[in-house]
Amino acid sequence: MAHRHFLPVAAILAVAQLLARAAGYPWPVCGYTSNFVANSTYQAHLDFVTATLPKNVSSSPDLFAAVVVGAVPEQLWAVGLCRGDINATGCFGCLTQAIQDLPSECPYSKEATIYYDTCTAHYSDVHTLPGDDTGPALNTYRAFNDANVTSEPARFQTLLAALVNATAERAASSTRRFATGEADFDLEFPKIYSAAQCTPDQTAAQCRKCLAGIVAAFLGGFGSNIGGRVLGVDCTYRFETRPFYNGPAMVRLASPSPGAPAPAVEPTAGRPAAAGGGERKRPFGICLA
Ligand SMILES: *[C@@H]1O[C@H](CO)[C@@H](O)[C@H](O)[C@H]1NC(C)=O
Ligand SMILES: *[C@@H]1O[C@H](CO)[C@@H](O)[C@H](O)[C@H]1NC(C)=O
Ligand SMILES: *[C@@H]1O[C@H](CO)[C@@H](O)[C@H](O)[C@H]1NC(C)=O
Ligand SMILES: *[C@@H]1O[C@H](CO)[C@@H](O)[C@H](O)[C@H]1NC(C)=O
Ligand SMILES: *[C@@H]1O[C@H](CO)[C@@H](O)[C@H](O)[C@H]1NC(C)=O
Repeated sequence: MAHRHFLPVAAILAVAQLLARAAGYPWPVCGYTSNFVANSTYQAHLDFVTATLPKNVSSSPDLFAAVVVGAVPEQLWAVGLCRGDINATGCFGCLTQAIQDLPSECPYSKEATIYYDTCTAHYSDVHTLPGDDTGPALNTYRAFNDANVTSEPARFQTLLAALVNATAERAASSTRRFATGEADFDLEFPKIYSAAQCTPDQTAAQCRKCLAGIVAAFLGGFGSNIGGRVLGVDCTYRFETRPFYNGPAMVRLASPSPGAPAPAVEPTAGRPAAAGGGERKRPFGICLA
């Protein structure tokens, strides 16, 4: 199996390029190194993945599937993942759309990724093993809402960092590598909501490293933006001042008084969101690229 090593600098440059391109939602990230031709073996492998990935992902308990089809040089590695609070029906629908859209978003590109709110699909001729990431995650995309918190920006940033950190730590230590979080803020924005997720083929340590990497590299760049997300094939996080996930928060931060040190984490008995019923529909926070 081929390994791929990314230098953090290269990854940050890639993110800068993607930001400049600022494609609209959903967010495709196309590989630029190699192409395949119509009716090739690679095309046949892609057709097989298109036909089977949505069902495999949505029927798996952790809403994840990865597959390697064929042999080098026509080998195709594909990964699908749904956000951990989505049910099987929603997951199947999202991935069906994603995998259908990808070939037209990235025509004949051997490597392509597409990020939706509730699912990610990725394929490549290079098989990257879990945790094989030396810098910020593979094919990283960053999106943000340009509006800012105006009332107490400094306290917002401190609270946001604590919330995202606590959510990422909880995701890494959970069996499904997914967590949601919530913190009380102020009158302008009563709550901050967060989510973090890794592909569940990673160990807790690999997941923590992946999330810590994209938190350290990119969270500060959001400034006082009221919403933002960093999307990678291996791990992702997102925050909004509007609710965007199903079910109760799995991590809650106690409300601090102004000028107080970073708040303590108050773990909650948050249920692991199972695929299936009992979920409340909540509006999505829209992030502008
Ligand atoms: C690919 O196969 C389809 C169906 O067999 C055919 O219609 C099409 O012309 C072929 N395209 C190329 C580029 O060979
Ligand atoms: C889907 O699952 C089937 C049965 O286990 C397997 O043969 C196939 O390779 C899987 N496809 C994908 C894209 O995961
Ligand atoms: C939010 O703050 C950033 C950084 O100061 C600034 O560039 C941006 O224009 C602000 N957004 C709005 C909508 O004012
Ligand atoms: C959370 O914060 C601690 C202390 O700064 C840091 O060591 C850890 O890597 C952070 N975890 C994540 C997932 O960002
Ligand atoms: C799955 O989630 C969607 C959207 O939240 C909801 O409309 C639907 O009823 C759910 N389906 C099941 C089987 O729970």
